[in-house]
Amino acid sequence: MTTTPRHWLAVPLLVLAMVGGLTVGATARPDVERTGRTDTLFPKQGHPGYDVRHYDVRLDYAPGANALVARTKVRATTKQRLRSFALDFVGMRVTAVRVDGKPARFRRTAQHLVVRPSRPVTGSFTTTVAYAGHPQEIVDADGSSEGWVRTDDGAIALGEPVGTMAWIPSDNTPGDKASYRFRITVPRGLQAVSNGDLVSKVDRGDSSTWTWRVRDRMATYLAMVAIGRFTVYRSATESVTGRRIPVWSFFDPTTRSSAKARAVLPKVLRFEERLFGPYPLTSAGIVVDNASVGYALETQNRPFYPGVADSATLVHESAHQWFGNSVTLRDWHDIWLAEGFATYAEWLWTGAHGGKTPAERFDGLYDTPASSSLWSPAPTEFTNSAQLFGEPVYQRGAMTLQALRERIGDPDFFRFVKRWAADHRQGNASTAQLVALAEQVSGEQLDELFADWLVRDGRPAGY
Ligand code: TRP
Ligand code: ZN
Repeated sequence: MTTTPRHWLAVPLLVLAMVGGLTVGATARPDVERTGRTDTLFPKQGHPGYDVRHYDVRLDYAPGANALVARTKVRATTKQRLRSFALDFVGMRVTAVRVDGKPARFRRTAQHLVVRPSRPVTGSFTTTVAYAGHPQEIVDADGSSEGWVRTDDGAIALGEPVGTMAWIPSDNTPGDKASYRFRITVPRGLQAVSNGDLVSKVDRGDSSTWTWRVRDRMATYLAMVAIGRFTVYRSATESVTGRRIPVWSFFDPTTRSSAKARAVLPKVLRFEERLFGPYPLTSAGIVVDNASVGYALETQNRPFYPGVADSATLVHESAHQWFGNSVTLRDWHDIWLAEGFATYAEWLWTGAHGGKTPAERFDGLYDTPASSSLWSPAPTEFTNSAQLFGEPVYQRGAMTLQALRERIGDPDFFRFVKRWAADHRQGNASTAQLVALAEQVSGEQLDELFADWLVRDGRPAGY
């Protein structure tokens, strides 16, 4: 691909800038392909020289000491001949690295594990990293915690946007999705939950090993492990396709009753399937833990909720399984592709259950004063990762979808939403591709509408 994520904008904005003398903000962003960078907001993350296919992650965790002994096998392919390559990794102590079974040299930098195999690799190759120590909690630019977060009875590993590098040496960028296997050994009496499907739980001596398999390709930022005391609920729900979706839910017994959330989840999934198309993943569930992070996270299959999973948040995190997890952004600048849709899903749910309609939500927000932080920076135009989870991304992102809906009408809008989920299922996508699809489905020229809503600073006029 030679186009950048900015392609769809470059032309109209250039023309506008010339004709109207408009200031359109910092559109001259580094060309991702040419610099070899994989992300414009996190230039240190990700390694375009190879493509990971599978992570096999073994963890042995002692909560009291916060001591982790781990081994991850990374199966990747490369079209090049790599004399050395890097994985994203912070903290802990690397004890050994092997490439295709042979000992390899390695060194650490602040965020990378640089591996030098005994001979260059090409095609498919497997890197085995053994590591141990105290995994780190990472504090982001916005002050929030991710990475390996300790709890009163264990820990939870959360990875948005970059925290997975605290516990998996990885190509830690959303563009490189892979399958996973997690084998987590914990003291007997504790539980260990992760993404995907539960393969086995084996008790041996005074420990238990929980094995989880993720067959659907998953971005590193959606990987999750929660270790602690949980009440485990196994059930199933039926997809609109007739497929049985296993549901594994884990609730910290010190948190509020799980009954309501467990009853609502199948209803939410069914509601979203009708709007977005079939549930895109093998299994579902809920993880509620007493972790002192101030946010829920759409960790794949099984979102994490801090303390309580209320209905609006269930709707939001479940919608991410389609938008964000199955259809994944390629560059963090496009995070509105996840958050705008998940927020819009909440609007749809509320509207269908006797609350404000999406149009009313839109109108209410549109009245927000022009000076409000809702209007600047525009959803795809922020340059500081502290703004990843800001109002422009969530609220103005959702407003973008409502503006599109009003422009192209309900039948085309909902055809577009289903097509977006289907065309990029289990893949990656960009705003440019979304604009192209909306234009294709509706037969209308929509670049101005999207530039108004996603790119131009300030409140779009005339909506
Ligand atoms: N992506 C999460 C959601 O909307 C939110 C999130 C992740 C978040 N990390 C955060 C919000 C840090 C605030 C701060 O479901
Ligand atoms: Zn979200």
